[in-house]
Amino acid sequence: MEKRISKILTKLEVLNQKGGQWNISHETGQFLHDLIIKNKPELILEIGASNGYSTIWLAMAAQKVDAKVITYEFVPEKVRDLVSNLQKAGLIKYVQVVPDDANKRLGEIDEKVDFVFLDGRKNEYLQQFKLLEPNFKQGSLVVADNVNSHTHVLQDYLYYVNNSKEYKSKLKDIGSGLEITEKIS
Ligand SMILES: C[S@@+](CC[C@H](N)C(=O)[O-])C[C@H]1O[C@@H](n2cnc3c(N)ncnc32)[C@H](O)[C@@H]1O
Repeated sequence: MEKRISKILTKLEVLNQKGGQWNISHETGQFLHDLIIKNKPELILEIGASNGYSTIWLAMAAQKVDAKVITYEFVPEKVRDLVSNLQKAGLIKYVQVVPDDANKRLGEIDEKVDFVFLDGRKNEYLQQFKLLEPNFKQGSLVVADNVNSHTHVLQDYLYYVNNSKEYKSKLKDIGSGLEITEKIS
């Protein structure tokens, strides 16, 4: 990992311990990065960037597989930190930052989406998944965070992805719990 990237990740991990950012763990970031390297998606979406800790992991992987990241964040102060942190990491050129409510903007995407990281409001995952379904192709992966920490709020989402013949879904028990859903037909 480049020194400027590890420096900013460490800085954000220290900041996260003070609270208020709700960033994924280092282990989760490494897992998302490795999953992207393995699956080589072309278009990666992230809903809920906060200060960009997870976005840096996604963009680092995107750089290696020649993919593009689109990330959504609607809190202006967080957008400012997100852009600044991506610039410091030297990764801004791999990321399109959409400073708006993802729910209003997902319908605009006309390309196929092959990797999604859901980490916005937990009660909106299902709505966002359904908005993106027309953009999925066989092999598209959707990774949803907080399925252990917010299991109750995510009941409807978990039921949907685990009871459709179009998807294969499993829990990865790291960080706050990741549900990994693959479009199989
Ligand atoms: C859990 S934090 C994201 C943490 C980040 N993914 C990380 O691990 O570094 C959730 C973020 O999603 C943003 N958010 C929630 N719902 C959103 C939406 N519909 N559109 C855009 N941003 C949203 C919030 O403002 C908040 O900053």
